[in-house]
Amino acid sequence: MIADGIPASGTGTLKTAVRVRGVTKTFGVGDSRTVALKAADFETREGELHLVVGPSGCGKTTLLSVVAGTLEWEAGEIEVLGTRLNGLKKSAITAFRGRHIGFIFQQFNLIPTLTCIENVSVPLLLNGVHRRPAEAKAAELLSRVGLGDKGAKRPTELSGGQQQRVAIARALSHEPRLIICDEPTSALDRETGHHIMDLLSTAARAPGRCVIIVTHDPRTYGYADRITEMEDGRVRRVMEGGDLRQFIEAHS
Ligand SMILES: Nc1ncnc2c1ncn2[C@@H]1O[C@H](COP(=O)(O)OP(=O)(O)OP(=O)(O)O)[C@@H](O)[C@H]1O
Ligand SMILES: [Mg+2]
Repeated sequence: MIADGIPASGTGTLKTAVRVRGVTKTFGVGDSRTVALKAADFETREGELHLVVGPSGCGKTTLLSVVAGTLEWEAGEIEVLGTRLNGLKKSAITAFRGRHIGFIFQQFNLIPTLTCIENVSVPLLLNGVHRRPAEAKAAELLSRVGLGDKGAKRPTELSGGQQQRVAIARALSHEPRLIICDEPTSALDRETGHHIMDLLSTAARAPGRCVIIVTHDPRTYGYADRITEMEDGRVRRVMEGGDLRQFIEAHS
């Protein structure tokens, strides 16, 4: 079968989860002006773990931010999970993100005054779950990322790798359809990194879901269904099948 021009696998029709068309984003004005995205195109499908790679400063975090609706853009079209973000009010984008998107930020963005359990509970509370079941789910997720004994600690009492795992648990807590991760394994040792990638792979393959990961970490490449390589504010190439296997071999 063909959906949106994309051949489907044996598991059924593969729908587009995110579509970015000709998106331009500029920071600053005059001499300090930087064009972070230059009419960039990008696409992911449901059921896919999609990696985005490329040199520092090429626009990867900016791309994730416009898809998550946390950053405004000047030109181009963005559609996420069948919803067109162009023209939506800020409040509608915030509500949409809170319901459907889990975001792991490059800087973790944990709330320092809350414990780990409370941090992981936040998306659940915002989606109307009561405190007690929210905290029970948060405790279970912290165990799944290997931090079952850290629930009562505050983020500042944890190492960078532990904070990163709390951020991952928080992004998974409300079972969002789209999970967006900026360098989720950067602060993790080899074994923990693979454990987290296993969790994210499982999340990506649930029906109607999708995971997009920006990474510099070649250990993550083998988990990808597709890899988009960016360069200077644009997509340079999209790899899958034989191209992807070659890329992974070249970096292993
Ligand atoms: N808030 C900002 N103000 C001004 N310029 C910015 C801002 N955020 C990003 N930029 C610029 O936009 C370009 C793209 O930045 P972006 O953070 O998307 O890169 P990146 O690919 O994520 O890099 P890295 O791998 O280092 O995280 C860079 O030149 C950066 O300096
Ligand atoms: Mg970045």
